[in-house]
Amino acid sequence: MVAMKTSCSLLLVDLIVWFLLLGNVLSNEYTTFKKLVLPPSVTGPESAVFDRGGEGPYVAVADGRILKWQGPTTGFLDFAFTSPNRTKKLCDGTNDLKLGAICGRPVALSFNYKTSDLYITDAFFGLLVVGFNGGLATQLSGGYKYFSGIDVESYTGNVYMTDASLTYGIRDMTKPGFKPDSTGRLLKYDPRTQRVTVLLTGLSGVGGPSVSSDRKYVLVPEYMNNQIQRHWLQGPKKDTNEVFLTDCGSPKNIKRAANDGEFWVAVEKQVQESPMLSEPHGLRVNGSATVLQTVPLPQFLNMAHNVVQESNDALYVGSSHSDFVGVYTN
Ligand SMILES: *[C@@H]1O[C@H](CO)[C@@H](O)[C@H](O)[C@H]1NC(C)=O
Ligand SMILES: *[C@@H]1O[C@H](CO)[C@@H](O)[C@H](O)[C@H]1NC(C)=O
Repeated sequence: MVAMKTSCSLLLVDLIVWFLLLGNVLSNEYTTFKKLVLPPSVTGPESAVFDRGGEGPYVAVADGRILKWQGPTTGFLDFAFTSPNRTKKLCDGTNDLKLGAICGRPVALSFNYKTSDLYITDAFFGLLVVGFNGGLATQLSGGYKYFSGIDVESYTGNVYMTDASLTYGIRDMTKPGFKPDSTGRLLKYDPRTQRVTVLLTGLSGVGGPSVSSDRKYVLVPEYMNNQIQRHWLQGPKKDTNEVFLTDCGSPKNIKRAANDGEFWVAVEKQVQESPMLSEPHGLRVNGSATVLQTVPLPQFLNMAHNVVQESNDALYVGSSHSDFVGVYTN
């Protein structure tokens, strides 16, 4: 009985995957897909960033390392790590969150393009920074429950990061029956004063934020509220917030697109025919919250916490559940 049920639902998954692939080929751009495969047993590239010279992607993975893509013959190599007590012997290839306090769990990455410093949020070690030679990162601010997203605004050097919760950490999220609360925050780190200030509170399932290319505002996704908020940094509405976009699915991460003033939002949409399945998409939106393009990401079906990063006419997609970075090209 149980076995039959399993195979039926697997068949359904197959059908839906084929349906998505077919729809993708017929009607959308970014239809060519390839994988940048992580080293053996390494998973969870929740970020994919490029440096000032266009090298990368750099990815933060579940075993506590930040890896850099060196091209197809070499693959990914070690670049940096966040925990002073991390050893390669104990940590390489692990995804055991019980080891997180020893191995680290960097989650999101963002370069300051003026200084070439790489800023890192780590679920155990808060905010860190590492120079362009990599190695052990330096902690700038700690003592938080669970830092998730990050975006550096390179003109001022200000760092915007999101704190998922005041009450739960990354380890709590894997416990049965876990539900995120509404105590997430948007924070700012000022490198001149080295102080962290709170910009926005009461966020529900907050993901990776993104500052607009004109530096006037920052967008903040709330995946539990199925909405994106806009926090104004400049202009007449400075220091105020407004709802920017709703009804777009469940937004996980936002990144600036190559076109000035546009963003890529990684969202999950419930599959109509099968509510247990969530189907990820990349949405390209502009500063008026107009959705300009929707790209299905069928290879990431049912993988949570995706990120969509545009670079050189390609979309690089990472996920907390994959053992690869996906690259979509036209
Ligand atoms: C690293 O290990 C030492 C010795 O066990 C311990 O005192 C220290 O707190 C650890 N550091 C971190 C950041 O966990
Ligand atoms: C966003 O796109 C819409 C539709 O093309 C356009 O009308 C609007 O002016 C755009 N907004 C911005 C800020 O570019």
